[in-house]
Amino acid sequence: YAVGVDLGTSAVKVLLVTRDGEIKDEVSRPLSLSQPKSGWSEQDPEEWVTQTIDALKELTDRADEEIGGLSFSGQMHGLVLLDEHHKVLRPAILWNDTRTTKQCRDIYDQVGEEKLLSVTKNPALEGFTLPKILWVKEEEPENFGRAATFVLPKDYLRYRLTGKLAMEYSDAAGTLLLDIEKKTWSSDICEAVGLPVSFCPPLVASTDQTGTITEERTGLTNETKVFAGGADNACGAVGAGILSEGKTLCSIGTSGVVLSYEADAYKDFGGDAHYFYHAAPEALYTMGVTLAAGDSLRWFKDVFAEGEDFDEFVKEVGEVPAGSRGLLFTPYIQGERTPHADADIRGSFIGMDASHRRKDFVRAVMEGITFSLNESIEMFRKSGKNIDTIVSIGGGAKNEEWLQMQADVFDATVVKLRSEQGPGMGAAMIAAYGCGWFISLESCAAEFLEEAERFEPDQDRVETYRHLFCIYQKVYR
Ligand code: XUL
Repeated sequence: YAVGVDLGTSAVKVLLVTRDGEIKDEVSRPLSLSQPKSGWSEQDPEEWVTQTIDALKELTDRADEEIGGLSFSGQMHGLVLLDEHHKVLRPAILWNDTRTTKQCRDIYDQVGEEKLLSVTKNPALEGFTLPKILWVKEEEPENFGRAATFVLPKDYLRYRLTGKLAMEYSDAAGTLLLDIEKKTWSSDICEAVGLPVSFCPPLVASTDQTGTITEERTGLTNETKVFAGGADNACGAVGAGILSEGKTLCSIGTSGVVLSYEADAYKDFGGDAHYFYHAAPEALYTMGVTLAAGDSLRWFKDVFAEGEDFDEFVKEVGEVPAGSRGLLFTPYIQGERTPHADADIRGSFIGMDASHRRKDFVRAVMEGITFSLNESIEMFRKSGKNIDTIVSIGGGAKNEEWLQMQADVFDATVVKLRSEQGPGMGAAMIAAYGCGWFISLESCAAEFLEEAERFEPDQDRVETYRHLFCIYQKVYR
């Protein structure tokens, strides 16, 4: 077997996958999130470790054959600050934490906007890691004074399971400290913001072996090889077969992303789209991000339908026509990344009518999330990309109504795979390839990934949504 560990924001999931790509078993453990102030979002790295060990133990107790390899997918950008003994200094500051607007401005002042874009291919956004490091430097000088290095969430988890500290390129690309073309830490950026390059951890490739398991409580032994793994969106792309140019992914988890494969490091989108390393060797991707995608639905349910069964809660949307009978939602409950890059904007319901029922609101939330993702698709189309087929993964690919909505809003064929577990599957594929079971990730994808269903756009609903999307876009303005 190969094991994929997917360290998300709401849960850690571990998948046990056979050599021919069948998910034999899976275990999930919830993670708690602390949002003490508007725009803040933190987690305790120790909980990632204990919940993952627990999940792996349950999985290995049931496994009837040897586990050859394991790899990781992880929520991106989160700052885990470590002292010289690699002890965690403060709670991790996560990707959807937007407290760092001032530090983003400082980065532009110190590095220069043009220089930052040409080296990192990305703009200074609150969610990325460097502004978080500078926030701690400014606001918590005592913690910063003891800091020797930093890692990202799944790199910390890997460190605790293997004893080896490293960061891999797909996640390093989201720190704003990596020189994308040279594929090294940027000494220019480090110098401009006052960080020694030695503050940055050693770099490895996603498919590199980074030790073996030393944490016995997992039920695994040092026979299991551990591979570095990748950022959740990079692993999601592997697990959805986005392994050549022209392929596009839509992933709806806590965040939502639209991602498109790129073959080289020598272009960018002028900062309008994220431009990061893929987990597939030498490849990259462009990406647009909706900060609160599944999270908007989770929020709505927590506030208005606490304790109800999730599947029952979303089932009702099938009874509501496209357009939610005039109700429109913008999902900016944590600010927004693409296309607005605005940490301060907040969400809204517009067009409320005395006849609206809760199911209209639920459908409006799903439509608002999908409209937000469509802004990224439109941006990619305007740049010349031909997007007629999109592979959908994540929670948004579990619900048939939502898959059809994606096809209708995106005006594209939406493909659902046998499993919607893109990131965990991608991590397992990296392990399977690392173990030498396949000659490439592409040949692994050919064996592991299978289309289950296609959703075709319905031209009447496409028209309805085209009109509503124009109104949606005006709401922000
Ligand atoms: C991407 C991003 C999110 C997280 C979610 O830039 O911040 O998609 O990776 O885990």
